[in-house]
This record gives sequence, structure tokens and C-alpha cells, in this order.
Amino acid sequence: MSVTVYVPRDASAVSVGADEVASAIAREAARRGESIRLRRNGSRGLAWLEPLVEVETPQGRLAYGPVATADVPALFDAGFLSGAAHTLALGPVDAIPALRRQQRVTAARLGQDEGDNLAAYVATGGYAGLRRALAMSPVDVVAEVTGSGLRGRGGAAFPTGIKWKTCAEAAGTQKYIVANADEGDSGTFADRLLMEGDPYSLIEGMTIAAYAVGASRGYIYLRIEYPHAQQMLLSALAHARAAGWLGPSIGGTDFGFELEVRMAAGAYVCGEETALLESLEGKRGQVRFKPPLPAHVGLFGKPTVVNNVVTLATVPWILANGATAYRELGTGNSRGTALLQLAGNIRHGGLYEVPFGMSLRELLYDIGGGTLSGRPIRAVQIGGPLGAYLAEKHFDTALDYESLAANGGLLGHGGIVVFDDSVDMAEQARFAMEFCAAESCGKCTPCRIGSVRGMEVIDRLRAGDVAQETLLRDLCDTLLNGSLCALGGMTPYPVLSALDHFPDDFRRTETSR
Ligand SMILES: Cc1cc2nc3c(=O)[nH]c(=O)nc-3n(C[C@H](O)[C@H](O)[C@H](O)COP(=O)(O)O)c2cc1C
Ligand code: SF4
Repeated sequence: MSVTVYVPRDASAVSVGADEVASAIAREAARRGESIRLRRNGSRGLAWLEPLVEVETPQGRLAYGPVATADVPALFDAGFLSGAAHTLALGPVDAIPALRRQQRVTAARLGQDEGDNLAAYVATGGYAGLRRALAMSPVDVVAEVTGSGLRGRGGAAFPTGIKWKTCAEAAGTQKYIVANADEGDSGTFADRLLMEGDPYSLIEGMTIAAYAVGASRGYIYLRIEYPHAQQMLLSALAHARAAGWLGPSIGGTDFGFELEVRMAAGAYVCGEETALLESLEGKRGQVRFKPPLPAHVGLFGKPTVVNNVVTLATVPWILANGATAYRELGTGNSRGTALLQLAGNIRHGGLYEVPFGMSLRELLYDIGGGTLSGRPIRAVQIGGPLGAYLAEKHFDTALDYESLAANGGLLGHGGIVVFDDSVDMAEQARFAMEFCAAESCGKCTPCRIGSVRGMEVIDRLRAGDVAQETLLRDLCDTLLNGSLCALGGMTPYPVLSALDHFPDDFRRTETSR
């Protein structure tokens, strides 16, 4: 009987040699006359263990990692096909501490099967949410999502049910659902892992959203740098369509929904929902004035829901398990789970899904294992390139929207980038201004010009002109209050937090650096 061996095929596993490892395993098995069935699953999100090879045994799926091509003959010699011991053996995959500590809801299926395996999706509860939704009225579906307390995971944390209700109640027969899959924040990859490892959860979530608000078409606006996700989505869409989960009469009802993938323009600002809509319409990605909200006047002028991938991929679970089950997780007004992504200088980088409320310290040290360099953690940026920097004194902050806001931070899309004590925070502050200047859509003056002046002011401050600090704070105030969108409006977060928590870095002169 053949033995099933899993080797992930998501972009990060592939980038560290998963394809070569898979080929080496197939070659070695053929050479030894061993019968194996090689399956290419999604990643479980444990980036530091990739390529994470799993073997199906009578004791369950046993893991080995990180496996290099050169390790393959020795793994066969040791008898890994029957789960034998080896220096790379990690035991039952579900018992790996970094997975055991998590509470996987949205990411529950990650790593289990090939992402586009529709039969496996349905066998693990897939489409139960849509089935239940179709048996309810659209108004009740919106109420269920509202009742779950789900807030948008794209950055602004706006209540999803309220957004859907606004669109559902907007006048007009043509409406759209748009998945924001532009994922531009530094240190973020939750959207990508979901699309590569469990694309049907996004497709099902968008279909439920379409039913709830009365939309007949949807678009996935996908980051141009995600070709693996594109392939996976296209394959999953074709399977879903063939099985009747997309198209004119879904689940035997008269509800029809069509869905397409559109590759993004490759600009950070195109993740901002109105710039995204401009780009989807084939125009230059510039931010629109609000109001009107996209829920009233969105794509091609029609009522449109724009939601993040994680938000939409969470909806099937909520419909299948009920709003209360989701609401019971989390804390305060941060209900459910957070998909936190640990990146930068960290030993155990990866994706961790935990209920809101875990402390930053627990995540950084107990789960993340401290820095990769072995030096102390000095600063942590949460919420993308426009997120605030937090210092050691903030590490006991709970990771939820309210606690982070109380400490001047924000969760954003859950990206956490770690820096050790060799970081120069004045340089990081300058980089925030440089990023804003490079990515500005140019529509408003504070962002377009203020960011360039910001770099100059920081340069003068770093050169020893201490009076420039007042000017820098004034400039940040203008950006904060005068910008049209959050790109300019949030650039002061990293700049001011660096200035407030790490003032000494701005007082060192160039020669003392
Ligand atoms: C400059 C900028 C970039 C953004 N990039 C993204 C992005 O890549 N993905 C995303 O989902 N939201 C992004 N957002 C937030 C979106 O504008 C919007 O709030 C979000 O897609 C709504 O979905 P949600 O309610 O599910 O969070 C960005 C916002 C700004 C201001
Ligand atoms: S803040 Fe920047 S990105 Fe946003 S609208 Fe103004 S110029 Fe464009």
C-alpha cells in the first residue's frame, strides 16, 4: 500500500525549496521501489519549519522539518515513511507546540489538504455556512454577521455586519462584492496563506456576502506579487463553478453569483478601498473623496462591499457555527480570533491564530522564541508600515483593538515586525516618511509634499539641529489632520512613536552612529 507524504506548495515553502524536496522524495521513493502518494498541501503557517514534510501513518500525520533536499536519503534510511525517529522528526503535527497553542477558526483547514481540493473542503464542513445562509433570509444573514461581532481585518476594524447592512439597504439592483487581496502591509501574509491553502473559504464567504446584500458579481483584487495564489484561486473557482457553487443557480436556488480574479496594480495605495475601486475600473489608483461610501456608490458607481480576505474567509465559519460561538471568543469589542503574523527579526516567524487578548510579550517570547539574532527585542511595529512602534514598556499590552489603541498602537491587518537592539529608530522614522512619499497617490498636499519635507526635517534633526523636533511634530499634526486618507493620515504614527519612545536615537549625531 502506498504511503501518503505531504509537502507544502505555498509560495513561502516553495521559496525555501519545497518543490525540490518534493521531487527528491519522489525520486528517492522510485529508486528504492517504495510506493508513495505525494500530496502538495497548503502551509500550516510555521514558516521557520518549512519545508514541513508530513507522513500519514497509523498514528496520524507525523511531521519532519525543516527538510532540505540533502536530508531526503537519510530520512528514507531512517524509515520516515513509517514515522521512524530522525533528527528532523517533530512528532504528530497537531502536537507541535506552536500549533497546539492556537485556536484555529479561520485558518482551521490550513495545511490539511491541497487548497483546491473541493471534495476535501466539503468533507471538512465546507459550504455548510452557505447552505445555512441560503435557508435564511438575506436580512437574517446580515444580522448573524452583525451578531458575531466580526470587525474588518483589513485595517480599520469596521463592523462587517453594519457595512453589509448599508449596502443591502442601498438602492439599486446591480451590486458588487470585492475582496481586498492586495495585502501590502509589511510582515503580513495571512491573506496569501488563506488563498493558497484554503481558497474556498474566501469564495464561500464572498458568495454568502453576495446573497446577504443582493450582489450578483464579485471580484478578487489580488496582489500582483501573488502568482501562486492566483493559480490556486483560478483552479478553485473552476471547481466551484463545475460543482454548481458558483454561477446562475447556486445550491439549486434562484440566487446566482459570478466571481473573477483581477490582478492588482502593484501600488500600496491601491489597497485603500476607493483607490482599489478606481484601479478595478481600469483607472489610475487614486483615493476618492468619502462620502459617498463604497457601500452606496462603489464599483462602476454601484453599491459595493469591500472586505478583506480574512474577514470574508471567516464568514463561512460564523454561518456554519452560529454568531454566538464566534462572539464567545475574544475580549471586549474585539470578538473572535486574530490572525497574527510574526515577521522581521524573530526566531519562530509565522502565522498564529489566537483569540484576541493574548499579550504581546507572550506572542514575542513564548510563541515567537525571541529574536533570531539572539539579541534583546527593542522595538516592534504592529499594523504595517504606518503602524506605531512599541517599546519594551508596552510588551504586556493585550493584542486587541482597544488595548493597543490605549497604548497609541493599532492592530491593522495583524502584521508584527520585530527589531533587535541594533535598530536605529531615527532611521526607521525617516523610512516612514520615505515610504509615504514613494507610495502617495498625490491627491492631497499634506501627504504628497509633507512626506518629502518630513524626510528633510528628520535629516536635519539627525544631523544635530534639535530645534527641528518642534517642526517635525507640527508637520505630523498637519499630516494627521489634513490628509485625505490613512496613508498620509497614519504616517505620523511610526514617526511620533519612534520620537516618543526612542528619543535618544534622534539625538545621536551622524558621527556617533
Ligand atoms: C493606504 C492603505 C492601504 C490599504 N491596504 C489594504 C490591503 O492591502 N488590504 C486590505 O484588506 N485593506 C487595506 N486597506 C484598508 C481598506 O481601505 C479597507 O478598509 C478594507 O479593505 C475593508 O475591509 P475590511 O472591512 O474587511 O477590513 C488599506 C487602507 C489604506 C489607507
Ligand atoms: S493621503 Fe496620500 S495617498 Fe491618501 S489621498 Fe492624500 S495623497 Fe493620496
